[in-house]
Amino acid sequence: MNYKAIVIGRGNIGGELISRLAGVSAITKAVVARKGVYTPKGEPHEGLTTGGTEDERVKAAFGMMEEEKPDVAFLAIPTTDDGSIALRYIQAILARGCKVVTSEKGALAHHFETLRPHLSQIGYRATVGGGTMMIPALRVRQMSGKPVTVNAVVNGTLNYIFAGVALEGRSLAEMVREAASLQYAEPGANDPLAVVRGEVKDVKMKLSVLFNAVFAKGEYLHPDSFQETELSDDDLLAFTDPGAGYRYLTRLSNNSGPDLVAEGSPGSLKAKIGKWRVEAGFYNVIQGTDIGRWFPSGVNNAVMVKIGHHGDEGVYEVCRGPGAGPAAPAEAMLADAKELLAIA
Ligand SMILES: NC(=O)c1ccc[n+]([C@@H]2O[C@H](COP(=O)([O-])OP(=O)(O)OC[C@H]3O[C@@H](n4cnc5c(N)ncnc54)[C@H](OP(=O)(O)O)[C@@H]3O)[C@@H](O)[C@H]2O)c1
Repeated sequence: MNYKAIVIGRGNIGGELISRLAGVSAITKAVVARKGVYTPKGEPHEGLTTGGTEDERVKAAFGMMEEEKPDVAFLAIPTTDDGSIALRYIQAILARGCKVVTSEKGALAHHFETLRPHLSQIGYRATVGGGTMMIPALRVRQMSGKPVTVNAVVNGTLNYIFAGVALEGRSLAEMVREAASLQYAEPGANDPLAVVRGEVKDVKMKLSVLFNAVFAKGEYLHPDSFQETELSDDDLLAFTDPGAGYRYLTRLSNNSGPDLVAEGSPGSLKAKIGKWRVEAGFYNVIQGTDIGRWFPSGVNNAVMVKIGHHGDEGVYEVCRGPGAGPAAPAEAMLADAKELLAIA
């Protein structure tokens, strides 16, 4: 079956999507960027290159498709606000009866409750876990009503940087530069503190989407629900001390037991919602321990789930795979589109 697509955002992921769509039975008809609407070849659409609101751009892109209505719109723009820009795109697209597949996480993180009634029309597995399919992989586990602890690495950029420091003895500055050159961090990023702080913000959004999509029961986690402890340059020096093995880990748990990181630990996030504690922070991973053996390397993300008070109902690795870089999220988005359009 052929399907017709619009791509919004033509950066790393949007660019990758446009080339991959040519290889699956899809026809990309319009590409929306900040300045206007384009053909897939990048030619500006006459009269539509002057900006406008999100709704006007969507209207213009749909207009470009004239009679043929698009089946799906892929949203791959950065989050530069509280997800409101992306929310307006999503609402404008849904209002036209088209499905949405998004890698942008701000809209769902900040406006989950608004979008919840429409989730059957939205594909969002690329918002958390890159190409690991973390959300569907967790959803299929039977965990309802049981004590559960989820350990998760959800930020490939932080994992790449701190794996290089902890396991290969490389410097933080070198790892940050390398992450930028591989497109895991903003191009030209060279201030480690700014990069790490930006990624901690990303973790807040991802944990909100993950919790709400998998575990929430009527009460939703919001990025602002987290108590965040400041991180300084000196803290980063301590976390990159040779001989220590600090990595950035997240945990969602409705089980009793100690916290993942101590109250006030620099760069940590803590939130409570119902019976759940949702946390993130720098964790000293000792090689040879269970967590050391499980911890993903490089840019990978991974999730380990312990079910039962002491893991007596199972300890499972739920998923593992690349958490940054354009290929894996683009692949996840195409899988979402197939599912939404019920293409075998
Ligand atoms: N890269 C990854 O590894 C990864 C993984 C999972 C999820 N994500 C998420 O996926 C999204 C896209 O990531 P990316 O790496 O592809 O970003 P990117 O390379 O920075 O590209 C963003 C694109 O979005 C366009 N854009 C920005 N604001 C826009 C607006 N208001 N309307 C229309 N277009 C707009 C930009 O247009 P111009 O060309 O006009 O500047 C640019 O082409 C982000 O939300 C990111 O967090 C990324």
